[in-house]
Amino acid sequence: MLQLPYRLDGQVALITGASRGLGRHFAKTLSKAGAKVAACGRSKDLLQELVNEITDDGGSACSFPMDVTSSGDVIATVKSVVEGLGVINILVNNAGIAVTKPALEVDEADWDRVVDTNLKGVWLMAHSVAKTMVANGTGGKIINIASVASTTVLGQVSSYCASKAGVAQLTRALAVEWARHGIQVNAIAPGYIRTDMNRAFFDSPDGHTVIQRIPQRRIGDPDDLDGILMLLASDAAGFMTGSIILVDGGHDAV
Ligand SMILES: NC(=O)c1ccc[n+]([C@@H]2O[C@H](COP(=O)([O-])OP(=O)(O)OC[C@H]3O[C@@H](n4cnc5c(N)ncnc54)[C@H](OP(=O)(O)O)[C@@H]3O)[C@@H](O)[C@H]2O)c1
Repeated sequence: MLQLPYRLDGQVALITGASRGLGRHFAKTLSKAGAKVAACGRSKDLLQELVNEITDDGGSACSFPMDVTSSGDVIATVKSVVEGLGVINILVNNAGIAVTKPALEVDEADWDRVVDTNLKGVWLMAHSVAKTMVANGTGGKIINIASVASTTVLGQVSSYCASKAGVAQLTRALAVEWARHGIQVNAIAPGYIRTDMNRAFFDSPDGHTVIQRIPQRRIGDPDDLDGILMLLASDAAGFMTGSIILVDGGHDAV
């Protein structure tokens, strides 16, 4: 019988932005596949709720409250995860925010908030985790959450589009440099997926109009990303690095 290499038993998976939305879903999916989850984000109570849900389901998880924009937090968190759970095998760089404003109204604080979270945060985490992977000689898998906005312009989120284009190219640059260390760096580029970030908009008449422009005439649910997440987190993707995988109902192709 064909054995699909999708189990992650005993592997340590660190997920940023695990308190809500896609990150919370990714944490549960990786846990169901057997990974020990390090749930990271700023909302301590939400992270603890997630840890309780995972452990109630028989999984293993710990919460690590932190801010991805702070290099001090990132370094301390990576150290605590390695000490508490073991060598990190999988990093999911998911934490992200958007500021929705016409470009002329975006101010420096908006720009810094978005780029620091979405791009600098991804770099800080990847850099810190990769150092532990190299030091341990274990290699590992880094999965960055880019966006359809890495390649397609979405209205009134210019800083978000710029940050996500940066995430895509950073993914490729790190993949090239770190392949020699056995570290695979890939990105998932989701189209619109229903989460707290956009729920109100997609329930509005303007949101319904946007949905009609997507070839599959729907937005995604978090579990539409399960297949690609498990592919990139597991040995099934052993010959993939530097790939940016769109999961967007055809949005980018329009
Ligand atoms: N939903 C979509 O349609 C969609 C499409 C394409 C790409 N994405 C990307 O997918 C990722 C998750 O989006 P989502 O829709 O799940 O958003 P969400 O529901 O708003 O969740 C965002 C997560 O990021 C965390 N976060 C934000 N700033 C942080 C910081 N400075 N430090 C640590 N954690 C931080 C938040 O946790 P705390 O507030 O607790 O810190 C939260 O857990 C983002 O990178 C987003 O750009 C989403």
